[in-house]
Amino acid sequence: MALARPIVFGNWKMHGLRAEAKALAGGLAERVGRPSATLGVFPPATVLAEVAAQLAGTGILVGGQDCHDKPKGAFTGSISAPMLKDAGAVAVIVGHSERRHGLGETDALVRAKVQAALEAGLLAILCIGETEAEWLEGRTLEVLERQLDQSWPQGASAARVVVAYEPVWAIGTGRTPTLDDIGRSHAAIRARLERLASDGDKVAILYGGSVKADNAGAIMAVAGVDGVLVGGASLDPDGFFAIYRAGG
Ligand code: G3P
Repeated sequence: MALARPIVFGNWKMHGLRAEAKALAGGLAERVGRPSATLGVFPPATVLAEVAAQLAGTGILVGGQDCHDKPKGAFTGSISAPMLKDAGAVAVIVGHSERRHGLGETDALVRAKVQAALEAGLLAILCIGETEAEWLEGRTLEVLERQLDQSWPQGASAARVVVAYEPVWAIGTGRTPTLDDIGRSHAAIRARLERLASDGDKVAILYGGSVKADNAGAIMAVAGVDGVLVGGASLDPDGFFAIYRAGG
């Protein structure tokens, strides 16, 4: 899937009862028209099929927030990549820090999930990012490189995987790295991807963590930033639309 840049993705996390999701998706479609950049939303699995149906034909892509690493089986409560696809998803987020740190997901499991997403024909959004302690210890680049080495599946290509750099300490906190630091991290990610994939120079790399309408333009203007993965600010159609406009 060749994605027009900038790429602006909204991760709704655990927000969105059916009526709220409908209003949010409708509000977005109404403001955006047919996007010239790549715009996508990642609603909760319970509303994914409805949101996908609502946004069909708008050009706004819809994805899941996580998937199991197996296509089916006795895994109570889990959702597989083929199930997401069947519900209308074209993409899935994997390795988000709220799952790595909140639920103990390892790099090995994240890699298996990316693989499962690819096998189901979904675009995988692979999240990586350092914790606050790692950032304070000056270990950011080392952590990003390790996470990529251990969670990038062998043979994966730029057309099928997007990397999202989300410093854990910037998520939902209103704090962001400096623009220089974002540029440095993205350059290190790019260099690593070039070693891991033959088309590593083409992998889209997004920034995520406290992206709002007032900082999105500056962040997306940093060399090496191909777009943003937005959490809280994607829950309001006006705010998300302003972020989309800031990239343009
Ligand atoms: O996946 C997006 C994310 O974790 C960033 O969240 O609320 O800081 O924009 P937020």
